Amino acid sequence: MANTKKIIEVLGNLISDQPTAAKKYKVLVVAAEASPYAEAGGVSMVITHLSKELRKLGHDVRILIPKYGSIDEKKYDIQLVYEGLQVPTGDENTPHLICNVKQGKVDGIPAYFLENQEYYELRANIYGYSDDPTRWALLSKGALELVKTGIFTPDIIHCNDWQAGIIPNYLKTEYRDLEIATVYTIHNLAIQGIQEMINVSEMDFDDGKSLPASFFDPRLAKQNFMKRGIIYADALNAVSKTYSKEILLPEHGCGLDKLLSELRSKLHGIINGIDYEQLNPATDVLIEKNYDITTLDLRAKNKSALQKEFDLPVRDDVLLLGYVGRLDWQKGVDLMLDTLRHVLKDFDIQFVQVGGGEGGLADSLRRLEYDFPKNVAVHPHLNFTLPRMLFAGCDVLLFPSRFEPCGIVQLEAMRYGAIPIARRVGGLTDTVFDFNVDTKEGNGFIFKDMDVFSLFGQIVRANELFRNKALWRRIQKNAMRADFSWGYSAKEYEKLYTKALAWHRKGS
Ligand code: GLC
Repeated sequence: MANTKKIIEVLGNLISDQPTAAKKYKVLVVAAEASPYAEAGGVSMVITHLSKELRKLGHDVRILIPKYGSIDEKKYDIQLVYEGLQVPTGDENTPHLICNVKQGKVDGIPAYFLENQEYYELRANIYGYSDDPTRWALLSKGALELVKTGIFTPDIIHCNDWQAGIIPNYLKTEYRDLEIATVYTIHNLAIQGIQEMINVSEMDFDDGKSLPASFFDPRLAKQNFMKRGIIYADALNAVSKTYSKEILLPEHGCGLDKLLSELRSKLHGIINGIDYEQLNPATDVLIEKNYDITTLDLRAKNKSALQKEFDLPVRDDVLLLGYVGRLDWQKGVDLMLDTLRHVLKDFDIQFVQVGGGEGGLADSLRRLEYDFPKNVAVHPHLNFTLPRMLFAGCDVLLFPSRFEPCGIVQLEAMRYGAIPIARRVGGLTDTVFDFNVDTKEGNGFIFKDMDVFSLFGQIVRANELFRNKALWRRIQKNAMRADFSWGYSAKEYEKLYTKALAWHRKGS
């Protein structure tokens, strides 16, 4: 009896771990970050939520990221699965770096962790070290060595951003015996390595054809991992339709526009989604009062809770603007600050902010708060719970990005009925549609030019529309009704995997 139980258990595991139907893929998703273990930006969420949705479709998708010291092994029940993985460095003096492979599971998604004391465990941050090229080359080769152990034998390796960009290059050279197709997702073309590849001297220019340098060779930092991912992957995705077209132009191509144009037939623009189960105003435990599209009046309680939290006058009649996100140049925070100074002189509105980053921008935010104490309150630091309060309590969220491959925060905001004012660029173009008072269609406010006047105009427009309760409800409902869940995009990725496999077979 006990034996029968054991056999059933084992069979159960086999069935859940190995999809049986035809054309179900085994996919190893490699990235520098994945939620909830290590989160620096939107990429972490994409990695986990896309994997979750693909698993629902029956694919055996597993994640690989480094085992950073900050990842709590007890909390996620992380166990050692392989000790002493020897990762070849290509260097004669130190031919191998030794790693361990660990495994955990959150939300039913298996995740592997590449453990190495020196390069991951003892570093406080995910990014920003001068030896990052070595750290990401280690992750990339580590992925292929993991495959060679037989722990997991994927049909496809799904590489993300420059940190995993060199994997397709290794698979065409040192690891060409491994018959694995690759899909490469570009989350941000602007970051191609640790140096600005677009301004390198002719001598340092990487045409992508030389063999990947050894781990400790200074040439490794000059090799453009992003470019090599683009050249050698079987299929490419840039994270929205508009971004996938913008990067073919010099303004957004970051020096790779011509190459991308040549390789256009393998470039796709599958948009990111968000996890509708996790992000739901009807069930979210981080907000004051739950609500849905039919009980939008209850949302007011979240607005007052937010005003209290930020020590602002509690007023329902005032338009409450918000900003959630990294403080950096890409996001146009400088333009937002300049514009708000003008707006606050002429209009009675409130503004709250959460998110850390560049020191100078944080200082400017604090100065704005100091100058307008009754209208502005900021939290220029990373925070995991406050964003939800802003989604549920703000009337409007601002997205003045210079460029935006996809953008996740506008999708989260709309799910909670906070209306985006967004620049017409990248993924914002594909998800935010200007409200039309005549047709009553649209879920936000759009501006085109990257200047104070244009953003100012849309804030004034929102402030006026906000006075008309019926119209404001309508725009909120439009935003909440839009479906940005992963269902559709996961199916598109499934098709891309099929194509990548076919192209890989053809290529080899
Ligand atoms: C990067 C991009 C952002 C995108 C995210 C996930 O952070 O800047 O636009 O949404 O990656 O793909």
